[in-house]
Amino acid sequence: MCGIVGYIGNSDSYPVLVKGLHRLEYRGYDSAGVAILNACGELHTYKAKGKVEDLERFCCDKDTAGSIGIAHTRWATHGEPNDVNAHPHVSENGEIALVHNGTIENYNVLKQALEEHGCTFRSETDTEVLVQLIQYIKESTKCPLLTAVREALSQVVGAYAIAVIDKRTPDTIIAARKSSPLVIGLGDDATYIASDATPIVDYTDRVVYLNDGEIAIIEKGKDLRVITFDNEPSDIDIRTLKMSVSQLEKGGYPHFMLKEIFEQPETIQDCIRGRIVGDKVRLSGVSENEDVFLGTGRIIIVACGTSWHAGLIGKRLIQEIAHIPVVVEYASEFRYSTPIINPDDVVIAISQSGETADTLAAIRLAKEHGAFVYGVCNVVGSSIARATDSGTYIHVGPEIGVASTKAFTGQVTVLAMLALAIGQLRGTVDSTSVRELASAIKALPVLISDALKLNDEIERLSGIYTYVHNFLYLGRGYNYPSALEGALKLKEISYIHAEGYPAAEMKHGPIALIDHELPTVIIAPNDEMHEKIISNIQQVKARGGSVIAVVTKGDSVIAGLADHILEISEVPECLSPVIVSIPLQLLAYHIAIKKGCNVDMPRNLAKSVTVE
Ligand code: AGP
Repeated sequence: MCGIVGYIGNSDSYPVLVKGLHRLEYRGYDSAGVAILNACGELHTYKAKGKVEDLERFCCDKDTAGSIGIAHTRWATHGEPNDVNAHPHVSENGEIALVHNGTIENYNVLKQALEEHGCTFRSETDTEVLVQLIQYIKESTKCPLLTAVREALSQVVGAYAIAVIDKRTPDTIIAARKSSPLVIGLGDDATYIASDATPIVDYTDRVVYLNDGEIAIIEKGKDLRVITFDNEPSDIDIRTLKMSVSQLEKGGYPHFMLKEIFEQPETIQDCIRGRIVGDKVRLSGVSENEDVFLGTGRIIIVACGTSWHAGLIGKRLIQEIAHIPVVVEYASEFRYSTPIINPDDVVIAISQSGETADTLAAIRLAKEHGAFVYGVCNVVGSSIARATDSGTYIHVGPEIGVASTKAFTGQVTVLAMLALAIGQLRGTVDSTSVRELASAIKALPVLISDALKLNDEIERLSGIYTYVHNFLYLGRGYNYPSALEGALKLKEISYIHAEGYPAAEMKHGPIALIDHELPTVIIAPNDEMHEKIISNIQQVKARGGSVIAVVTKGDSVIAGLADHILEISEVPECLSPVIVSIPLQLLAYHIAIKKGCNVDMPRNLAKSVTVE
């Protein structure tokens, strides 16, 4: 998720662009840049690795005059965060500048075709391919910029919001969107473009939300024009903004955590995008290291916190699908346990931030023993991503809330795809099973959307349990880690003590805790352990405990036993933690809110534990 800003009007664009980038930094902050067309028709592009303030320092002695400009703050997906990969990207002839939010899935194919026509590239990004394609089309067919953009977009597969300026098309910005947001602000003497309304709200409350498949032609002193990719005129629906900047940064949600919980249908879509082709899973980290995954006799997963919970699920997925023995270690324990690491071991390091000190140290130890290290990270170019031999990014966008939500579901989804990719390679899973599981993975966004409909019911339910002092979370099989994760969510944002346990372990001690003051969340989807989990519920009820059960829709048996049921859609057991986690995230969120806790920045916690 990146941030785009554009300005065309009677004043200098630079101050508006930079202020807008600051407003969008929550969308991505690993590099930033501006491209400005001045009155002499010169195109100046300035970009720098780091935050917007780094760009401002870089620009302080530069010529930034000019009343037309586009700008970008990056969340890297293709290509390390550095000056060259930063946006805006400029065509080879130096005439066209473009900023992009999204991913171009077929950029390799397009890049090869352009190279065959003599194009050369400076960056590793998919975005540069698009601006070079626009130039190539414009030059080879002698067509106007708008036609070249339309033709280029017709060749692109993926998601994008773009803004383009061209030295040879003065006083004009072309903007377009498909699956990534773009807002146009209509001021009295200027027009603004942005990924959301936060850069616009200071100047105008009149906005147009561009729709998928639309192109906006913004010309100085002229009315806005909007057309479809098929060159048909589109109606322009001018809305009036009513939200504050703070609300806008959170997408209208009261907290980043709730926004990120509700983003999960889209973030899982982004996570999957381009990785399930036909009936097969395609992960470059596996296909580029086939010998490693064919030759390994063991996988060690190292992680912390929520990422460690995802690792426990990854263990079951990889063992079940790829038939490789897996051990899961807390990175902090692993690094000091004088572990036995064999050279043919594969170590998988899972980390949202990519900066967790213990996980980084575990990676270094593994590499000292000659193991191949594979990263499952969210932040492109992070320390862990750079320390590993290969990996798969989860592509869920910046996770601002300290309590991990969309990163967890992204990690589990990537681990499921990783297990399938390795299983395909080793021949341990037949094509029918791959097709069925791949199809189930693609269906996850819809099932998550369905689970999110529980929000109001959970908000009401949270009022009953706001002031309890302890919670027990129980689950079996794939959902024992879900119980651990649900308990962690609750304790870290509401400060209520919560423990996750394998349900069958109840009789080995925890059942002594059960009484009317101790509510138990029991994860009981319709799977092979269903009968056994029913007896766990009966054990709790028999001792006066209250039960909140997460069940598959229509489970009348548990509905007759539990005090509250939260119904989710049918989903294969191995993928159920992705869906089960949604009501558990919402329960933790609403209880914490009712307790007046700061859910985005809980006490004593940091988003990334970069120290021991
Ligand atoms: C989870 O909600 C917490 N924020 C914490 O447990 C986190 O998962 C842990 O610190 C690991 O962080 P990482 O994934 O960035 O390495």
